[in-house]
Amino acid sequence: MDREHVYATMNGEGSLDYEVYLNTKALLSCQKDFAAFCNHDELQFQTVHQVEELWMKLIGYTLLDVDDYLQQENTNRVVTLFRRVHIALRLMIEQLALLETMSPKEYQEIRLQLGNGSGQESPGFRTILKMPAHLWQSFRTHYLDRHALTVEKIYNSEYSHSDAYMVAEALAEFDELFQRFRFCHVQLIQRTIGLGAKSLKGRPVDRLMEGQRVMFFPELWDVRSQMTDQWGGRYGVVRDSIGAH
Ligand code: HEM
Repeated sequence: MDREHVYATMNGEGSLDYEVYLNTKALLSCQKDFAAFCNHDELQFQTVHQVEELWMKLIGYTLLDVDDYLQQENTNRVVTLFRRVHIALRLMIEQLALLETMSPKEYQEIRLQLGNGSGQESPGFRTILKMPAHLWQSFRTHYLDRHALTVEKIYNSEYSHSDAYMVAEALAEFDELFQRFRFCHVQLIQRTIGLGAKSLKGRPVDRLMEGQRVMFFPELWDVRSQMTDQWGGRYGVVRDSIGAH
């Protein structure tokens, strides 16, 4: 195959309606020129990061709508839009695996191109991190307080698989998937530069483990432990063998 010819046609003319609507000319110019890549893994590295930024933009935008619908107690909309957020997060997690096809040495070559850039500077990530507190406030006000409900009631003493429960589970799934993204990202780092390394900001990489343990909605996780303790109180800490009866 004629590599130069493929390079020349890859970005298109930008004049067909498909190209105009999707702004492919600008989109396909967001990566370095082919000649400027330091190796054959760098296009993948830039593309995965750029695609992940787009998913985070979509997630942040969708969570704004989720917050509006929480305030309207429109559960169907909340659940549907959370499904969109969950799918986008799963895609973000899956896409990290692409970068595991890059050897540690090839990443070291790319790393020399990155200045002191850090994923912590990601605009999408920083925006999303600020949103859960607002979502929780809206959930608490409109689904719990206004109906004299608590997390304990919707999960246990008044459990009816209610709207409040469905929304709480959608919040929990968001929390779980975000944690999973952070976990898989740490695994990717372990595979690529090792956890004993320092980031391009000079910070120990293993500090990311702290972020990985952050829970946006601790009440939704605590209730499960409280239920286990409470239900387990019927038999104490360790149960008799069921074979003994
Ligand atoms: C080989 C691939 C990658 C390596 C070696 C890597 C490495 C790192 C390192 C060392 C940090 C810590 C930075 C600091 O302390 O300032 C970091 C943070 C971060 N990176 Fe990556 N990264 C990779 C891929 C990605 C990808 C594909 C994304 C896509 C969104 C991403 C998003 C982030 C985010 C959001 C943070 C902040 C995480 C947090 O605070 O929990 N990284 N990355």
